[in-house]
Amino acid sequence: MRFSSRQIHAGVEPDPVTGSILTPIYQTAAYVQDSVDSYLAKGYSYSRSGNPTVRALEKRIADLEGGADCTAYSTGMAGINCMLTAFLSAGDHAILSDVVYGGTYRLCNQVFSRFGIDFSFVDMADVENVRRNLRENTKLVVSETPGNPTLKLADIAAISEITQGAGILHAVDNTFLTPYYQRPLELGADLVLHSTTKYFDGHNATVGGAVVARTSEQDEALRFVQNASGIIMSPQVAWLTLQGSKTLSLRMDQQSETAFKIATFLESHPAVERVGYPGLESFPQHELAKSQASGYGAMIWCEVIGGVQAGKALMDSIKLWSLAESLGSVESLVTHPASMTHADIEPAVREQVGITDGLVRLSVGMEDSEDLIAALCKALDDLA
Ligand SMILES: Cc1ncc(COP(=O)(O)O)c(C=O)c1O
Repeated sequence: MRFSSRQIHAGVEPDPVTGSILTPIYQTAAYVQDSVDSYLAKGYSYSRSGNPTVRALEKRIADLEGGADCTAYSTGMAGINCMLTAFLSAGDHAILSDVVYGGTYRLCNQVFSRFGIDFSFVDMADVENVRRNLRENTKLVVSETPGNPTLKLADIAAISEITQGAGILHAVDNTFLTPYYQRPLELGADLVLHSTTKYFDGHNATVGGAVVARTSEQDEALRFVQNASGIIMSPQVAWLTLQGSKTLSLRMDQQSETAFKIATFLESHPAVERVGYPGLESFPQHELAKSQASGYGAMIWCEVIGGVQAGKALMDSIKLWSLAESLGSVESLVTHPASMTHADIEPAVREQVGITDGLVRLSVGMEDSEDLIAALCKALDDLA
């Protein structure tokens, strides 16, 4: 079956008791067992260890990414936390993209580093930087592509070749493009990370996360930590995410089409100094964007003439677009990464990787493209 059919049907069956076409929200802590001898005969014991509504979402996301299985979490960060815990131990080293979500950077640098794990953040636009930073104790490479917020790309196939050669794992944060546009496992990666808060939900209703594993053994290692740490997704969140995911391809296509129009508009506006969008020919990695994904996504960044003050004035005054931290929903959002999503990265590091104080991040939603452009145009004209 094709993607648009699987996003509706994968992982779910009509409810065996009532025929309910939607998987019910199994709102329960415990599951009554038939006898001590047939413990777990129906597959569930306690909702920290597994829940049928959550399981339906896990199966759907595993199917869409083409993995052996998937585990779902209370947030995207809980999923990343689980992945790092499952595959790293004291004395190990991991390599990450130098442009990553600020929360990922913070988790590595301020939490896992306390437990004797070393991290190198490298510019993966040149894959040789990954090879150069390999150490004897390197166990994991984590690429975020496109990276939040500069949209820097990493060549998934080339990095996977390096990690396979070194006998280590490659995890890809695929939050920005989703499996509709990019499937890292098909390109050789081992694990796929998602903040389902973003496009899978798509409606700004939940926070959640998922990790898809290439093999059942990797999934078992993740599921062990998911249960041991108590970071599983809740059934209500799983249910809402199951509903949101049914329109993933439609939303991605419309939001990306609008994003292309907006990026083109921004490039032509005299108040805009620089624009980043992988679909623009001016984007330095446009060819890689074309070759490893089937769409460019709906995230854009820009810097306006007048720098930080002008950027802040734009974000404070713009109508229709909301100033908010998240992305990927039907509502269009503007964000100031330096003071919001990436505030925990040291200013010098931010500047070095291109997260300038003047950078404005745009998450394009489902509103009419002309309305979104008119609102941007008015806010930009007012800066003059
Ligand atoms: C690329 C990326 N990965 C992971 C996360 C973390 O997800 P969550 O906010 O659901 O914990 C985010 C959040 O913005 C993100 O942008």
